[in-house]
Amino acid sequence: MTQAAPRSAILGTGSAVPATVVTNDDLAKIVDTSDEWITTRTGIKERRVLEGDKAASDLARLASERALEDAGLDVADLDAIIVGTCTADYQFPSLACVLEAKLGARDVFSFDVNAACSGFLNALSVSDMFIRSGRVRNALVVGSDVLSRFLDWQDRSTCILFGDGAGAAVVGVSDDDDRGILSSRLQTDGSYAETLYIRAGGSKKPATQETVENREHSIFMNGKEVFKVAVRSMEEISRRVLDDAELCVDDVSLVVPHQANRRIITALAARLSIPMEKVIVNVHKYGNTSAASIPVALDEVRREGRIADGDIVLLNAFGAGFAWGAAVIRF
Ligand code: ACO
Repeated sequence: MTQAAPRSAILGTGSAVPATVVTNDDLAKIVDTSDEWITTRTGIKERRVLEGDKAASDLARLASERALEDAGLDVADLDAIIVGTCTADYQFPSLACVLEAKLGARDVFSFDVNAACSGFLNALSVSDMFIRSGRVRNALVVGSDVLSRFLDWQDRSTCILFGDGAGAAVVGVSDDDDRGILSSRLQTDGSYAETLYIRAGGSKKPATQETVENREHSIFMNGKEVFKVAVRSMEEISRRVLDDAELCVDDVSLVVPHQANRRIITALAARLSIPMEKVIVNVHKYGNTSAASIPVALDEVRREGRIADGDIVLLNAFGAGFAWGAAVIRF
């Protein structure tokens, strides 16, 4: 008799954001913008910016320790650490390896996935595969990004959008077959690689004095194109993961979308016909924290008691690549 593959579930969550708050009015002092413009176009009121002596691994560590505590597990219980990030401490080794050492983990394997804003969903989906294969019992899944270090603070079209943060989830074998990650899907379209990217600093264009002078080490983005494809792609993939789980939109208790922009989120909710009361928005507080946005929001709603046993939660994300994904979880 073949045994059914175990289902994976989120056993605990944690998050961490820097203490330093940068408001829209603060930004209006350094670029030609206003609180009114930023609020109307994005819904963002303020964001957190990491202090100079810290890195993505410091936020990741705090979020991870909180997630382990929430799960009632010790670092020794982990088999794997998977981090979604595009702003690791170093080009290499991975942020996951740096985090492993900071947490004092032993006998684990650790690696990063770089899917930009979809990093956490990619890491979560990979952890689900490892757990269902029986290879891993407990994985620490983290999204941590410090995009403030990769912004051109003279470019008003991008510097207003992003903030720093980290979120983590302990993902382990579900003790109830009906609960856990019911379905997940990932997708990419690399033909959009240069629609949202950092031009220099990689193997194609290593850092030189000229690349620094040309400000090529910060985010370049065609915002309108991102907006259009993001809404369409997140709608499609959300419908597909719900189909996979044999659920419909009305079954969803809560949507925790990537927090890029309030307008993207409301457009997505409208296309899915999901009322905004069921959609989590915290972009006004943190801006777009890339791979951290979903786990930070998920941690906040769990701690606020907004997720009850049996609730169906839909996660969806979109980012550079383009890379996007979605997951359906029954808590
Ligand atoms: N303050 C004031 N004016 C500004 C600012 C600013 N911060 N930024 C741009 N403008 C100006 C532009 O220069 C332009 O002026 P012009 O008409 O004189 O040329 C005008 O405002 C309109 O600019 P648009 O780029 O057309 O503005 P748009 O309505 O498209 O909004 C925005 C821009 C907010 C970036 C929007 O395109 C967007 O939200 N795109 C999605 C991008 C995103 O969220 N990316 C995150 C990464 S990917 C992800 O996480 C999904």
